[in-house]
Amino acid sequence: MVNDGAGDVFSIETVGLTKRFVKKKHRGFFGFLRKDHPKKRQKENDDVTVALNNVNIKIRAGELFGLLGPNGSGKTTLIKCLSTILIPDEGRVTVNGFDVQKETSMVRASFGMVVGGERTLYWKLTARDNLMYFSSLYKMQRAYAKKRIEELLDAFQLSDRADERLEDYSSGMRQKVAIARALLHDPPILLLDEPTLGLDPNFARQIRKQIREISEKYGKTVLLTTHYMDEAEQLCDRLGFINHGNIVAVDTLNRLKAMVKEKELVEVAVYSPPVGIETHIRSMLPEAEVIKLIRGNEAEGTPSRIKVIGVTAEEHAGTIIDALRQKNVRIGSVNVVVPTLEDVFIKLTGAELRASGV
Ligand SMILES: Nc1ncnc2c1ncn2[C@@H]1O[C@H](COP(=O)(O)OP(=O)(O)O)[C@@H](O)[C@H]1O
Ligand SMILES: [Mg+2]
Repeated sequence: MVNDGAGDVFSIETVGLTKRFVKKKHRGFFGFLRKDHPKKRQKENDDVTVALNNVNIKIRAGELFGLLGPNGSGKTTLIKCLSTILIPDEGRVTVNGFDVQKETSMVRASFGMVVGGERTLYWKLTARDNLMYFSSLYKMQRAYAKKRIEELLDAFQLSDRADERLEDYSSGMRQKVAIARALLHDPPILLLDEPTLGLDPNFARQIRKQIREISEKYGKTVLLTTHYMDEAEQLCDRLGFINHGNIVAVDTLNRLKAMVKEKELVEVAVYSPPVGIETHIRSMLPEAEVIKLIRGNEAEGTPSRIKVIGVTAEEHAGTIIDALRQKNVRIGSVNVVVPTLEDVFIKLTGAELRASGV
């Protein structure tokens, strides 16, 4: 852990963390024969994705910190850089006070990790055998491992079915086993990459409850990534917003929400809005803070929505409707609602958390 001199102890710290992915342009099998072959030239033509751009975050010991951002914003890349799976291109990263590039094994002993969508457990083995197997990889003493596994099975309400194979489990139960496995060696830090992705709401709720408990009862530092606003809101003490590899805000949940708390949000359901409709509304409502069109899936009955934040609904709803009528946009409904955390995200980035229509 790193003490910054002001009394704060950080479990995770990144300074100027940058990670790029280079995708080589395909030049065909005989590409090397072409005149423009020189290597330098090739490099110039390659596509570079900046997955993380100068990321600076500090996560305190014992904190439940959420990283919220849409798909492709760099969340998994950050988790992979912290967990030594990926090597940063620039910057310094410390986990539990250890440098991820110089003290790799100390870093690895400091965290447990669950990366979504990966089949890291053995489906042909039972839950208990999976945990037993991984405890031997961690070189845990057998007697201690047995005790620890029973504790974890119990904590995750898996004891009843611990001797069934994972292939007979639901994905929610497998996710519980994955989190139990990450906690086997009792690491001070838990890295969870989209832990409830694709789970049914009931299991997602149970997993969230358990994450809260892990944080509260055992005092672990938890870094969780998500693109679910509700998850971030329910779980996290402090949040970072990430968009296109940039951290756009880091603050407590309350302070982030305060950015829109006093504002009114007018939400208009519309059909087939023309391109440029936001600019047109803006020309009539220059004082609005945010004007955002979220395209729905109209063919499937989900209208598009226009969100306007930071105007007095009573005075301005009429102007918004006039602007839409001028462009012959069919209006479904007009609502005045309380802005959410997602609206803070839209305000700061202009981007949505979810892909349109989902
Ligand atoms: N191995 C890779 N090779 C090339 N590009 C990648 C690779 N991994 C991620 N990316 C790109 O980096 C960006 C961030 O991806 P990722 O960290 O997976 O985002 P998130 O987890 O927030 O959905 C995306 O544009 C993605 O396409
Ligand atoms: Mg991801």
